[in-house]
Amino acid sequence: MKEKIRNLFIEKFAKEPSIFRSPGRVNILGEHTDYNEGFVLPAAIDKYIYLAISKRNDDSVNLYAADFNENYSTDINHIKRSNTQWANYLLGVVDQLQQKGFTISGFDAVIDGNIPIGAGLSSSAAVECATIIALNSIFNLGLARIEMTAMAQKAEHTYAGVNCGIMDQFASMFGKAGHAIKLDCRSLEYEYVPLKLDGYRIVLLNTNVKHNLASSEYNIRRQQCEYGVSLIAAHHPEIKSLRDTTLEQLRKYVEPVDPLTYQRCKYVVEENNRLLEACKDLQEGNIKSLGEKMFKTHNGLSYFYQVSCKELDFLVAYVSKLPYVAGARMMGGGFGGCTINLVEEDKVEELISQISKAYEQEMNLPLTAYIAITGNGSETCN
Ligand code: GLA
Repeated sequence: MKEKIRNLFIEKFAKEPSIFRSPGRVNILGEHTDYNEGFVLPAAIDKYIYLAISKRNDDSVNLYAADFNENYSTDINHIKRSNTQWANYLLGVVDQLQQKGFTISGFDAVIDGNIPIGAGLSSSAAVECATIIALNSIFNLGLARIEMTAMAQKAEHTYAGVNCGIMDQFASMFGKAGHAIKLDCRSLEYEYVPLKLDGYRIVLLNTNVKHNLASSEYNIRRQQCEYGVSLIAAHHPEIKSLRDTTLEQLRKYVEPVDPLTYQRCKYVVEENNRLLEACKDLQEGNIKSLGEKMFKTHNGLSYFYQVSCKELDFLVAYVSKLPYVAGARMMGGGFGGCTINLVEEDKVEELISQISKAYEQEMNLPLTAYIAITGNGSETCN
Protein backbone atom coordinates (compact mmCIF):
# COMPACT_ATOMS: atom_id res chain seq x y z
CA MET A 1 0.00 0.00 0.00
CA LYS A 2 2.82 2.37 0.91
CA GLU A 3 4.67 1.72 -2.34
CA LYS A 4 1.46 2.06 -4.31
CA ILE A 5 0.67 5.50 -2.90
CA ARG A 6 4.27 6.63 -3.26
CA ASN A 7 4.30 5.70 -6.95
CA LEU A 8 0.95 7.35 -7.49
CA PHE A 9 2.22 10.54 -5.89
CA ILE A 10 5.41 10.58 -7.97
CA GLU A 11 3.40 9.96 -11.12
CA LYS A 12 1.11 12.91 -10.37
CA PHE A 13 3.48 15.42 -8.83
CA ALA A 14 6.95 14.30 -9.98
CA LYS A 15 8.57 14.54 -6.55
CA GLU A 16 9.12 12.38 -3.49
CA PRO A 17 6.36 12.54 -0.81
CA SER A 18 6.32 12.01 2.95
CA ILE A 19 3.87 9.24 3.84
CA PHE A 20 1.62 8.90 6.87
CA ARG A 21 -1.12 6.49 7.85
CA SER A 22 -4.03 6.39 10.28
CA PRO A 23 -6.09 3.33 11.19
CA GLY A 24 -9.81 2.63 11.32
CA ARG A 25 -11.31 1.31 14.55
CA VAL A 26 -13.67 -1.18 16.09
CA ASN A 27 -15.49 -0.54 19.33
CA ILE A 28 -15.94 -3.42 21.74
CA LEU A 29 -18.60 -1.71 23.86
CA GLY A 30 -19.75 1.79 24.79
CA GLU A 31 -21.81 3.08 21.88
CA HIS A 32 -23.20 6.62 21.86
CA THR A 33 -21.59 7.18 25.23
CA ASP A 34 -18.69 9.37 24.11
CA TYR A 35 -20.64 12.60 23.61
CA ASN A 36 -22.33 11.95 26.95
CA GLU A 37 -18.97 12.17 28.69
CA GLY A 38 -19.03 8.44 29.36
CA PHE A 39 -16.60 5.61 28.61
CA VAL A 40 -15.79 3.84 25.35
CA LEU A 41 -13.69 0.78 24.52
CA PRO A 42 -12.38 1.07 20.96
CA ALA A 43 -9.34 -0.52 19.32
CA ALA A 44 -7.45 0.58 16.21
CA ILE A 45 -7.42 -2.03 13.45
CA ASP A 46 -4.88 -2.89 10.79
CA LYS A 47 -6.78 -1.12 8.03
CA TYR A 48 -5.50 2.32 7.18
CA ILE A 49 -5.90 5.55 5.31
CA TYR A 50 -2.57 6.49 3.72
CA LEU A 51 -1.64 10.06 2.91
CA ALA A 52 1.32 10.98 0.69
CA ILE A 53 2.11 14.67 0.91
CA SER A 54 4.62 17.34 -0.01
CA LYS A 55 4.83 21.10 0.61
CA ARG A 56 4.63 23.58 -2.25
CA ASN A 57 6.29 26.95 -2.61
CA ASP A 58 3.03 28.61 -3.62
CA ASP A 59 -0.53 28.69 -2.27
CA SER A 60 -2.14 25.88 -4.27
CA VAL A 61 -3.58 22.87 -2.56
CA ASN A 62 -3.89 19.87 -4.88
CA LEU A 63 -5.58 16.75 -3.61
CA TYR A 64 -6.15 13.42 -5.31
CA ALA A 65 -8.30 10.57 -3.95
CA ALA A 66 -7.24 7.26 -5.46
CA ASP A 67 -10.51 5.52 -4.48
CA PHE A 68 -12.61 7.95 -6.46
CA ASN A 69 -9.99 8.77 -9.10
CA GLU A 70 -10.83 12.42 -8.43
CA ASN A 71 -8.75 15.58 -8.14
CA TYR A 72 -9.59 18.60 -6.05
CA SER A 73 -7.68 21.87 -6.13
CA THR A 74 -8.05 25.07 -4.16
CA ASP A 75 -6.04 27.94 -2.71
CA ILE A 76 -4.75 27.79 0.86
CA ASN A 77 -6.14 31.29 1.47
CA HIS A 78 -9.64 30.30 0.36
CA ILE A 79 -10.35 27.12 2.29
CA LYS A 80 -14.08 26.47 2.56
CA ARG A 81 -16.52 23.59 2.66
CA SER A 82 -16.84 21.89 -0.69
CA ASN A 83 -19.41 19.74 -2.47
CA THR A 84 -16.72 17.09 -2.84
CA GLN A 85 -17.35 15.16 0.35
CA TRP A 86 -14.01 13.33 0.57
CA ALA A 87 -12.11 16.61 0.24
CA ASN A 88 -14.01 18.10 3.18
CA TYR A 89 -12.25 15.78 5.62
CA LEU A 90 -8.89 17.23 4.60
CA LEU A 91 -10.09 20.81 4.15
CA GLY A 92 -11.79 20.75 7.56
CA VAL A 93 -8.44 19.98 9.16
CA VAL A 94 -6.69 22.79 7.27
CA ASP A 95 -9.46 25.12 8.42
CA GLN A 96 -8.90 24.02 12.04
CA LEU A 97 -5.22 24.88 11.77
CA GLN A 98 -6.02 28.27 10.32
CA GLN A 99 -8.59 28.90 13.05
CA LYS A 100 -5.82 28.25 15.57
CA GLY A 101 -3.65 30.86 13.88
CA PHE A 102 -1.23 28.61 11.98
CA THR A 103 -0.15 29.84 8.57
CA ILE A 104 0.80 27.13 6.12
CA SER A 105 1.69 27.19 2.43
CA GLY A 106 0.09 25.11 -0.29
CA PHE A 107 0.71 21.37 -0.58
CA ASP A 108 0.10 18.37 -2.83
CA ALA A 109 -1.46 15.24 -1.39
CA VAL A 110 -2.67 11.83 -2.49
CA ILE A 111 -5.03 9.84 -0.34
CA ASP A 112 -5.65 6.11 -0.53
CA GLY A 113 -6.48 3.32 1.87
CA ASN A 114 -8.12 0.02 2.62
CA ILE A 115 -10.70 0.96 5.26
CA PRO A 116 -14.06 0.22 3.66
CA ILE A 117 -16.01 3.47 3.30
CA GLY A 118 -19.39 3.78 5.02
CA ALA A 119 -18.83 0.59 7.00
CA GLY A 120 -18.76 2.30 10.39
CA LEU A 121 -15.00 1.68 10.75
CA SER A 122 -14.24 5.40 10.91
CA SER A 123 -12.57 5.93 7.60
CA SER A 124 -13.48 9.62 7.89
CA ALA A 125 -11.76 10.00 11.27
CA ALA A 126 -8.73 8.23 9.78
CA VAL A 127 -8.58 10.75 6.92
CA GLU A 128 -8.75 13.62 9.41
CA CYS A 129 -6.08 12.10 11.64
CA ALA A 130 -3.75 11.31 8.73
CA THR A 131 -4.16 14.87 7.47
CA ILE A 132 -3.38 16.48 10.78
CA ILE A 133 -0.33 14.37 11.61
CA ALA A 134 0.96 14.95 8.08
CA LEU A 135 0.52 18.74 8.20
CA ASN A 136 1.91 18.87 11.72
CA SER A 137 4.99 17.06 10.54
CA ILE A 138 5.75 18.72 7.20
CA PHE A 139 5.11 22.22 8.54
CA ASN A 140 6.73 21.58 11.95
CA LEU A 141 3.71 22.84 13.87
CA GLY A 142 4.68 21.18 17.14
CA LEU A 143 1.16 20.04 18.04
CA ALA A 144 0.68 17.40 20.72
CA ARG A 145 -1.24 14.24 19.79
CA ILE A 146 -4.16 15.11 22.04
CA GLU A 147 -4.50 18.58 20.48
CA MET A 148 -4.49 17.03 17.04
CA THR A 149 -7.17 14.57 18.13
CA ALA A 150 -9.47 17.38 19.22
CA MET A 151 -8.86 19.30 16.00
CA ALA A 152 -9.61 16.24 13.86
CA GLN A 153 -12.90 15.84 15.76
CA LYS A 154 -13.74 19.51 15.26
CA ALA A 155 -13.09 19.15 11.51
CA GLU A 156 -15.79 16.46 11.44
CA HIS A 157 -18.23 18.83 13.18
CA THR A 158 -17.60 21.80 10.95
CA TYR A 159 -16.87 20.31 7.51
CA ALA A 160 -18.71 16.96 7.60
CA GLY A 161 -21.61 18.27 9.67
CA VAL A 162 -21.63 15.37 12.14
CA ASN A 163 -21.54 16.43 15.76
CA CYS A 164 -19.50 13.36 16.71
CA GLY A 165 -17.85 12.51 20.01
CA ILE A 166 -14.12 11.95 20.45
CA MET A 167 -13.98 8.14 20.19
CA ASP A 168 -13.09 7.63 16.54
CA GLN A 169 -10.36 10.22 16.30
CA PHE A 170 -8.95 9.17 19.67
CA ALA A 171 -8.76 5.51 18.66
CA SER A 172 -7.16 6.40 15.34
CA MET A 173 -4.52 8.52 17.10
CA PHE A 174 -3.84 6.47 20.23
CA GLY A 175 -4.48 2.85 19.15
CA LYS A 176 -2.07 0.12 20.25
CA ALA A 177 -1.85 -3.34 18.69
CA GLY A 178 -3.24 -6.08 20.91
CA HIS A 179 -5.16 -3.63 23.06
CA ALA A 180 -8.46 -1.83 23.38
CA ILE A 181 -8.47 1.68 24.85
CA LYS A 182 -10.66 2.29 27.86
CA LEU A 183 -11.24 5.98 27.41
CA ASP A 184 -12.95 8.31 29.84
CA CYS A 185 -14.46 10.80 27.43
CA ARG A 186 -14.78 13.44 30.10
CA SER A 187 -11.26 13.61 31.48
CA LEU A 188 -9.66 11.97 28.40
CA GLU A 189 -7.75 9.73 30.77
CA TYR A 190 -7.19 6.37 29.16
CA GLU A 191 -5.89 2.93 29.82
CA TYR A 192 -4.81 0.19 27.41
CA VAL A 193 -6.75 -2.99 28.10
CA PRO A 194 -5.18 -6.17 26.64
CA LEU A 195 -7.59 -7.76 24.18
CA LYS A 196 -7.19 -11.35 25.32
CA LEU A 197 -9.90 -13.10 23.39
CA ASP A 198 -8.76 -16.67 24.08
CA GLY A 199 -9.95 -18.73 21.17
CA TYR A 200 -12.26 -16.06 19.79
CA ARG A 201 -11.86 -13.71 16.85
CA ILE A 202 -13.45 -10.35 16.20
CA VAL A 203 -15.47 -10.71 13.01
CA LEU A 204 -17.03 -7.71 11.31
CA LEU A 205 -20.03 -8.28 9.10
CA ASN A 206 -20.68 -5.38 6.78
CA THR A 207 -24.33 -4.87 5.81
CA ASN A 208 -23.16 -2.81 2.83
CA VAL A 209 -25.84 -0.25 3.57
CA LYS A 210 -25.51 3.27 4.91
CA HIS A 211 -28.93 4.81 5.26
CA ASN A 212 -28.85 8.53 4.70
CA LEU A 213 -30.56 9.17 8.01
CA ALA A 214 -27.25 8.48 9.69
CA SER A 215 -25.90 11.98 10.26
CA SER A 216 -29.19 13.80 10.88
CA GLU A 217 -30.45 11.17 13.34
CA TYR A 218 -27.04 11.13 15.03
CA ASN A 219 -27.28 14.86 15.70
CA ILE A 220 -30.87 14.44 16.93
CA ARG A 221 -29.80 11.73 19.43
CA ARG A 222 -27.18 14.05 20.77
CA GLN A 223 -29.78 16.79 21.27
CA GLN A 224 -32.16 14.36 22.97
CA CYS A 225 -29.46 13.42 25.47
CA GLU A 226 -28.75 17.08 26.16
CA TYR A 227 -32.45 17.73 26.64
CA GLY A 228 -32.66 14.86 29.15
CA VAL A 229 -29.75 16.35 31.08
CA SER A 230 -31.41 19.78 31.13
CA LEU A 231 -34.57 18.28 32.66
CA ILE A 232 -32.54 16.82 35.51
CA ALA A 233 -30.25 19.83 35.86
CA ALA A 234 -33.33 21.98 36.52
CA HIS A 235 -33.53 20.16 39.89
CA HIS A 236 -29.85 19.25 40.32
CA PRO A 237 -27.69 21.96 38.78
CA GLU A 238 -24.53 19.95 39.48
CA ILE A 239 -25.57 17.43 36.76
CA LYS A 240 -23.71 18.33 33.57
CA SER A 241 -24.05 15.20 31.43
CA LEU A 242 -25.63 11.74 31.36
CA ARG A 243 -22.38 10.49 32.85
CA ASP A 244 -23.49 12.06 36.12
CA THR A 245 -27.06 10.80 36.18
CA THR A 246 -28.68 7.77 37.72
CA LEU A 247 -31.57 5.68 36.42
CA GLU A 248 -33.57 6.87 39.37
CA GLN A 249 -33.15 10.52 38.39
CA LEU A 250 -34.18 9.68 34.85
CA ARG A 251 -37.34 7.99 36.12
CA LYS A 252 -38.14 10.91 38.35
CA TYR A 253 -37.41 13.91 36.15
CA VAL A 254 -37.36 12.76 32.53
CA GLU A 255 -39.87 9.92 32.12
CA PRO A 256 -42.95 11.93 33.15
CA VAL A 257 -42.03 14.86 30.89
CA ASP A 258 -40.89 13.07 27.77
CA PRO A 259 -40.98 9.25 27.51
CA LEU A 260 -38.96 9.16 24.26
CA THR A 261 -36.13 11.22 25.75
CA TYR A 262 -36.29 8.93 28.77
CA GLN A 263 -35.74 5.86 26.57
CA ARG A 264 -32.76 7.45 24.89
CA CYS A 265 -31.13 8.53 28.16
CA LYS A 266 -31.84 5.25 29.89
CA TYR A 267 -29.98 3.38 27.18
CA VAL A 268 -26.94 5.65 27.59
CA VAL A 269 -26.79 5.32 31.37
CA GLU A 270 -27.15 1.54 31.16
CA GLU A 271 -24.52 1.30 28.43
CA ASN A 272 -22.05 3.25 30.47
CA ASN A 273 -22.53 0.90 33.43
CA ARG A 274 -22.30 -2.09 31.12
CA LEU A 275 -18.95 -0.92 29.78
CA LEU A 276 -17.40 -0.79 33.21
CA GLU A 277 -18.51 -4.37 33.82
CA ALA A 278 -17.28 -5.42 30.36
CA CYS A 279 -13.77 -4.24 31.22
CA LYS A 280 -13.82 -6.62 34.19
CA ASP A 281 -14.92 -9.45 31.87
CA LEU A 282 -11.98 -8.73 29.60
CA GLN A 283 -9.56 -8.69 32.50
CA GLU A 284 -10.92 -12.03 33.70
CA GLY A 285 -10.97 -13.49 30.18
CA ASN A 286 -14.71 -14.09 30.49
CA ILE A 287 -15.65 -13.81 26.83
CA LYS A 288 -19.09 -15.34 27.30
CA SER A 289 -20.06 -12.68 29.76
CA LEU A 290 -18.64 -9.94 27.54
CA GLY A 291 -20.59 -11.38 24.61
CA GLU A 292 -23.86 -11.33 26.55
CA LYS A 293 -23.33 -7.65 27.20
CA MET A 294 -22.84 -7.03 23.51
CA PHE A 295 -26.22 -8.60 22.77
CA LYS A 296 -27.77 -6.39 25.45
CA THR A 297 -26.17 -3.34 23.92
CA HIS A 298 -27.61 -4.24 20.55
CA ASN A 299 -31.03 -4.61 22.06
CA GLY A 300 -30.73 -1.18 23.65
CA LEU A 301 -29.49 0.44 20.45
CA SER A 302 -32.22 -1.16 18.41
CA TYR A 303 -35.29 -0.73 20.64
CA PHE A 304 -34.52 2.21 22.90
CA TYR A 305 -31.91 4.32 21.16
CA GLN A 306 -33.34 3.34 17.76
CA VAL A 307 -30.25 3.71 15.63
CA SER A 308 -30.26 0.22 14.12
CA CYS A 309 -31.88 -0.94 10.88
CA LYS A 310 -33.36 -4.15 9.55
CA GLU A 311 -30.09 -5.31 7.99
CA LEU A 312 -28.15 -4.96 11.26
CA ASP A 313 -30.96 -6.53 13.27
CA PHE A 314 -31.08 -9.47 10.90
CA LEU A 315 -27.36 -10.17 11.34
CA VAL A 316 -27.47 -9.97 15.12
CA ALA A 317 -30.62 -12.09 15.41
CA TYR A 318 -29.04 -14.72 13.15
CA VAL A 319 -25.85 -15.15 15.17
CA SER A 320 -27.67 -15.01 18.50
CA LYS A 321 -28.86 -18.57 17.78
CA LEU A 322 -25.36 -19.92 17.16
CA PRO A 323 -23.60 -21.40 20.19
CA TYR A 324 -20.17 -20.50 18.86
CA VAL A 325 -20.89 -16.77 18.69
CA ALA A 326 -20.35 -15.30 22.17
CA GLY A 327 -21.77 -11.89 21.35
CA ALA A 328 -22.68 -9.48 18.59
CA ARG A 329 -24.06 -6.01 18.12
CA MET A 330 -24.27 -3.17 15.67
CA MET A 331 -21.21 -0.97 15.88
CA GLY A 332 -20.66 2.78 15.51
CA GLY A 333 -23.22 5.48 14.82
CA GLY A 334 -25.80 3.14 13.30
CA PHE A 335 -28.23 3.01 10.35
CA GLY A 336 -25.92 0.64 8.50
CA GLY A 337 -22.27 -0.31 8.58
CA CYS A 338 -21.02 -3.38 10.40
CA THR A 339 -21.92 -5.67 13.22
CA ILE A 340 -19.08 -6.74 15.52
CA ASN A 341 -19.11 -10.42 16.49
CA LEU A 342 -17.04 -12.53 18.88
CA VAL A 343 -16.73 -15.88 17.13
CA GLU A 344 -14.95 -19.10 18.12
CA GLU A 345 -11.79 -19.20 16.05
CA ASP A 346 -12.38 -22.50 14.28
CA LYS A 347 -15.95 -21.58 13.36
CA VAL A 348 -15.21 -18.29 11.64
CA GLU A 349 -15.25 -19.65 8.11
CA GLU A 350 -18.38 -21.68 8.69
CA LEU A 351 -20.16 -18.63 10.04
CA ILE A 352 -19.15 -16.37 7.18
CA SER A 353 -20.25 -18.78 4.51
CA GLN A 354 -23.60 -19.54 6.23
CA ILE A 355 -24.57 -16.02 7.11
CA SER A 356 -23.49 -14.57 3.77
CA LYS A 357 -25.95 -16.84 1.98
CA ALA A 358 -28.75 -16.12 4.44
CA TYR A 359 -28.20 -12.36 4.29
CA GLU A 360 -28.07 -12.26 0.54
CA GLN A 361 -31.25 -14.25 0.31
CA GLU A 362 -33.13 -12.18 2.87
CA MET A 363 -31.88 -8.69 2.03
CA ASN A 364 -30.89 -9.07 -1.57
CA LEU A 365 -27.57 -7.49 -0.75
CA PRO A 366 -24.03 -8.83 -0.57
CA LEU A 367 -22.44 -9.30 2.84
CA THR A 368 -18.77 -8.56 3.35
CA ALA A 369 -16.87 -10.08 6.25
CA TYR A 370 -13.55 -9.04 7.79
CA ILE A 371 -11.54 -10.46 10.64
CA ALA A 372 -10.44 -7.47 12.69
CA ILE A 373 -6.80 -7.50 13.71
CA THR A 374 -5.78 -4.71 16.06
CA GLY A 375 -3.11 -2.23 15.00
CA ASN A 376 -1.26 0.89 16.12
CA GLY A 377 -2.41 4.48 15.99
CA SER A 378 -1.51 7.18 13.46
CA GLU A 379 2.13 7.15 12.40
CA THR A 380 4.63 8.24 9.83
CA CYS A 381 5.63 5.56 7.31
CA ASN A 382 8.91 7.04 6.15
C1 GLA B 1 -19.80 7.61 15.53
C2 GLA B 1 -19.17 8.85 16.16
C3 GLA B 1 -18.54 8.53 17.52
C4 GLA B 1 -19.52 7.78 18.42
C5 GLA B 1 -20.18 6.62 17.66
C6 GLA B 1 -21.28 5.99 18.47
O1 GLA B 1 -18.81 6.68 15.21
O2 GLA B 1 -18.19 9.40 15.31
O3 GLA B 1 -18.10 9.71 18.14
O4 GLA B 1 -20.48 8.64 18.97
O5 GLA B 1 -20.73 7.03 16.42
O6 GLA B 1 -20.76 5.40 19.60
